[in-house]
Amino acid sequence: MVNKNARATNPLLGQDHWNIQLDENGRLKHFLTIEGLGSEILTEILDTAENFTSVNNRTVKKVPLLRGKTITNLFFEASTRTRTTFELAAKRLSADVLNINISTSATSKGESLLDTLYNLQAMQTDMFVIRHQDSGAAHFAARHVAPYISVLNAGDGRHAHPTQAMLDMLTIRQKKGHDFSGLRVAIVGDILHSRVARSQIHALNTLNTGEIRVVAPRTLLPADIEKLGVKVHYNLQQGIQDADVVIMLRLQKERMQGAMLPSELEYYQQYGLTSETIKYAKPDAIVMHPGPINRGVEIESCVADGPQSVILEQVSNGIAVRMAVMSMTLGANAGAGTAQTGDDK
Ligand code: NCD
Repeated sequence: MVNKNARATNPLLGQDHWNIQLDENGRLKHFLTIEGLGSEILTEILDTAENFTSVNNRTVKKVPLLRGKTITNLFFEASTRTRTTFELAAKRLSADVLNINISTSATSKGESLLDTLYNLQAMQTDMFVIRHQDSGAAHFAARHVAPYISVLNAGDGRHAHPTQAMLDMLTIRQKKGHDFSGLRVAIVGDILHSRVARSQIHALNTLNTGEIRVVAPRTLLPADIEKLGVKVHYNLQQGIQDADVVIMLRLQKERMQGAMLPSELEYYQQYGLTSETIKYAKPDAIVMHPGPINRGVEIESCVADGPQSVILEQVSNGIAVRMAVMSMTLGANAGAGTAQTGDDK
């Protein structure tokens, strides 16, 4: 996964998987991965999202930026936060939203992803939001849909989850300021199976984070993870020592083959973030988690619900970040400064 050559041979991702998401003017056309995007685009997403948070705090939470556009949510994997916040984001931009229920769709009758896309394209969809179990599925869609359609990756296999990474960056920026160079960020848990961790590491690197650490048992770390510019720790206390940000991850058992862990209890004893272990991080450290959280497996309830937790703020920020990416890719919003001008009429 982290080996670029290995990724290039993935037929779904293709050779051009970094460039495909930019148009000829270098503007975001699809949002498939953080890789290959510069700090200017990431900062533009964050600034635009920051402006949209004001829309989300109004009584009337709607702007007309994407009126007349149709956005189709295609989720081939389970989701609570990501699917609903993509839907809310589209609605708050005044787009029409189609939510395809895969279990009751023709996918269950054997229709291929491509045929499903072409049929929805024939209904004048302007954007697909895709979550799929196969790494590269969103890239595959972006390469095959009509040129006016944008594709947003809502999580593909173990590969990438770019909007999650950006809502996490927005949360860190709100709590710790715009300059990431003095920050120590620890990502703890099932790094091996986590598309979230991979996208976070790319985003943190691009935003010039001082130190990025990954903390996990050996069995839950990709072999060449250091190549991404992170420090590896196998011990929780050392790994979160003096951290400004502690990001906890779920054990993604649905992606595990065979026994990768002794037991959940032993995992919790060694890697669980509890009222005791959190003391190793800085006193003002923030605790993050993309959800769904498994209480008593990777995090103690009193920490998940405690004063250092920003887990629910991450969820709220998901709406603003998805509004930003939708408006930027559909070209309805030229950038940060214009988000607020799209007032309700
Ligand atoms: C994550 C995902 O689906 O990759 N969740 C999310 O999108 N908020 C992480 C997970 O499932 O553990």
